[in-house]
Amino acid sequence: MTEQSPALDNLLTESRTFPPSAEFAGQANAKAELYATADADREQFWAEQAERLSWDTKWSQVLDWTNAPFAKWFVGGKLNVAYNCVDRHVESGHGDQVAIHWIGEPGDTRDITYAQLKDEVSKAANALTALGVVAGDIVAIQLQMIPEAIFAMLACARIGALHSVVFGGFSPTALRARVDDAAAKIVITSDGQYRRGKAAPMKANVDEALQGAESVQKVIVVKRTGSDLDGETPWTDGRDLWWHELVDGQSAEHQPEAFDSEHPLFILYTSGTTGKPKGILHTSGGFLTQTAYTHNVVFDHKPGEDVYWCTADIGWITGHSYIVYGPLANRVTQVVYEGTPNTPHEGRHWEIIQKYQVSIYYTAPTLIRTFMKWGADIPARYDLTSLRVLGSVGEPINPEAWIWYRETIGANKTPVVDTWWQTETGAIMISPLPGVTSAKPGSAQRALPGISAKVVDDTGTEVGHGGGGYLVLDKPWPSMLRGVWGDEERFRETYWSRFADQGYYFAGDGAKYDDDGDIWLLGRVDDVMNVSGHRISTTEVESALVSHPTVAEAAVVGATDPTTGQGIVAFVILRGDAVDGGDQAVQDLRNHVAKEIGPIAKPRQIMVVPELPKTRSGKIMRRLLRDVAENRAIGDVTTLADSSVMALISTGLQSGKEE
Ligand code: PRX
Repeated sequence: MTEQSPALDNLLTESRTFPPSAEFAGQANAKAELYATADADREQFWAEQAERLSWDTKWSQVLDWTNAPFAKWFVGGKLNVAYNCVDRHVESGHGDQVAIHWIGEPGDTRDITYAQLKDEVSKAANALTALGVVAGDIVAIQLQMIPEAIFAMLACARIGALHSVVFGGFSPTALRARVDDAAAKIVITSDGQYRRGKAAPMKANVDEALQGAESVQKVIVVKRTGSDLDGETPWTDGRDLWWHELVDGQSAEHQPEAFDSEHPLFILYTSGTTGKPKGILHTSGGFLTQTAYTHNVVFDHKPGEDVYWCTADIGWITGHSYIVYGPLANRVTQVVYEGTPNTPHEGRHWEIIQKYQVSIYYTAPTLIRTFMKWGADIPARYDLTSLRVLGSVGEPINPEAWIWYRETIGANKTPVVDTWWQTETGAIMISPLPGVTSAKPGSAQRALPGISAKVVDDTGTEVGHGGGGYLVLDKPWPSMLRGVWGDEERFRETYWSRFADQGYYFAGDGAKYDDDGDIWLLGRVDDVMNVSGHRISTTEVESALVSHPTVAEAAVVGATDPTTGQGIVAFVILRGDAVDGGDQAVQDLRNHVAKEIGPIAKPRQIMVVPELPKTRSGKIMRRLLRDVAENRAIGDVTTLADSSVMALISTGLQSGKEE
């Protein structure tokens, strides 16, 4: 590799590694040879992965990339995605296997076998067809984590309609923008949802959203909270239909039709750097191939043996790829939980793991850090010995959180897989293989077999080991987005223009190689700070802070600084048992960061706060913290999960000012 100045300085080093046990490695689905097999003939490798599925018509060509950046995978192939996720398991004799152990927040439960799932999805498909929904139509779904959400998604897939799932916590304005952008014909929702022990209205918000929405012909309403909800469910005669009245009486027979491999499967809206959300489009054959493949190799899933639990919400891509499509294609038995992790108590997840003998658990760093904050004594009260693989997704996981996860939840022996991917990539791209990789806490490490990723500098040249820069995907992959709904220009501009000469997809993330060439994610590039000419990742400073025994969570932003360009401002939440030691404690933390990373990364200011502002998907809203750090009026807080957090922070800022 040539000498060059890295685009991002590589400051934090981590030397601990955790190889898989011989026992785990011996039984693992993916062995080390998989990398070489994939490298030898990528298209052949993906063809073999596609063979995991049942195709009505086999493809004639694996990949057509002649019209880049619009890929076609498994060209000419035809399949039905819902048939692959449901019917074929019944046909192979597994109709009695539980597909979904559903747990409602108030404690009600439902076990749904594959045979029952087939009936429910077929009935829902017949119901949609009866309403005039045809292939290519768009059905918006705003539902909480209830089985009907999954039935509805699969029913759409079964008839070739696209679903556009809108997270249950999104405001009427956000729902309306998505309904309008896609011109959704049907909206599926519920009367209300249980949240933190209370019934909250849902349909009322949907009605508010849909006032005057011309594309919407019918609204289907699942009865969930019923009489627990105050007042009547608002109703528009002629437009609104109860799910149970519409669906329950339908025939459970439904003949799935085979659709083209490139037939659109769904749209999912994601926010970008500008205001308007982008409708990310995914299609059928490639998406299902890669979600099923990755679910098999990354989680080492064994159908009929494992009990899997992905804690994401179906409103996000993780719920689409790793609750609905990949796992069900692999004949999973999985837990789906409706509620929040601390309702009615902070041990709820561990209680569920113990009861259902969950063996694979996939969650987000933000939740892991919350569990850390609540204390290790809570999981210690439960039997978690069924767990054998732990996964993380959504943001960089700090090494200390990784270690806590492995030690406290994984009995110091389960592999932890840190999976990097995006709404746009559709499926996991960079991750350890649990039976192969010597895991490094905090690193997603290496592109999966069949996937190619690089860290490059400003000019698109790959940086050397030890160097930092921009993460790019330099070869097309089966589950890649096929576009931004209705906006080809935005698709090209957002993802393909930065390194257009090389034809690379730019993911928007900073990353670095360590000395072994393993990849470390450094957060979005707009979260990168520039301090005295050094580009420092917010993630690295956060990791250093969280590695201090008193810190539960940390968020770091760069604030304008007259001498250094930007100064580092940190917001920290102390652990439950840590007393706020005032100025001295803050000094200690600053010195700790200086020790961990170097004096250049010493925060200019550390503020001890009771909470951090987060979006509903758990991402820290650094924009708002930057406003605080720069003493500005606080900007738009409408996408915050809890809008009172900023007030808490502003009033709690007495402590922590620099000397
Ligand atoms: O910045 C990366 C971060 O989340 C972004 C994608 O967000 P979203 O489309 O909402 O999908 C989240 C679930 C796949 C990425 O650009 N991200 C996701 N996983 C990781 C991560 N950052 C670091 N490490 C990860 N494992």
